[in-house]
Amino acid sequence: MTPDRKPVRKAVLPVAGLGTRMLPATKAVPKEMLPLLDKPMIQYAVEECHASGIEEVIFVTGPGKSAIEAHFTADPALEALLKQRGRHKDADAIRLLSRIVRVSFARQEKPLGLGHAVLCAKSLVGREPFVVLLPDVFLLGTRPATAHLIEAYAESAGSVVAVESVPPERISQCGIVAVEEDSPRGHLFRV
Ligand code: UTP
Repeated sequence: MTPDRKPVRKAVLPVAGLGTRMLPATKAVPKEMLPLLDKPMIQYAVEECHASGIEEVIFVTGPGKSAIEAHFTADPALEALLKQRGRHKDADAIRLLSRIVRVSFARQEKPLGLGHAVLCAKSLVGREPFVVLLPDVFLLGTRPATAHLIEAYAESAGSVVAVESVPPERISQCGIVAVEEDSPRGHLFRV
């Protein structure tokens, strides 16, 4: 246990990629705004942040991503219209979108890669620990993966990353880590 760990309060969500592997669906609609059941993918990530104790989400956006900002910005005119029509539940749902957590925006002018996108959030993050979520990755579980990661961070001496096992035929498509075989602490391995 490292007692001097600062709490993780901020999350960086890089959403400035081009999403070329999902064309033509992503030509005009950001990949992160594609719906999964009744809400866009990015909303699951923001809700996961909230459920994991995160207080501020920093989106790293790029050109053509204004829909993401619009999704999490209050829309009093739409709320009023829904209320006028007696759709109070829908109006509440729309209002809550801008209140899940505090959001701020950093800009990545050119899609220079994931690492560069995270770097673009540097001044908004400041000197404190933060978590990075990729909103196009879904991890199902009874507890959010982000909460697990934050817990693992509190127990470890360095940065932590969530990984999954892949079969040999997928290795060439993935970033691969080598881990020490013996884990003294359950699912926490030294990379
Ligand atoms: P991906 O590796 O899925 O890249 O990014 P991509 O550009 O979105 O999609 P392809 O490869 O063209 O199909 C993982 C996450 O990192 C963000 C993406 O928006 C996505 O959330 N990203 C990627 C950036 O913010 N900036 C980049 O330059 C690249």
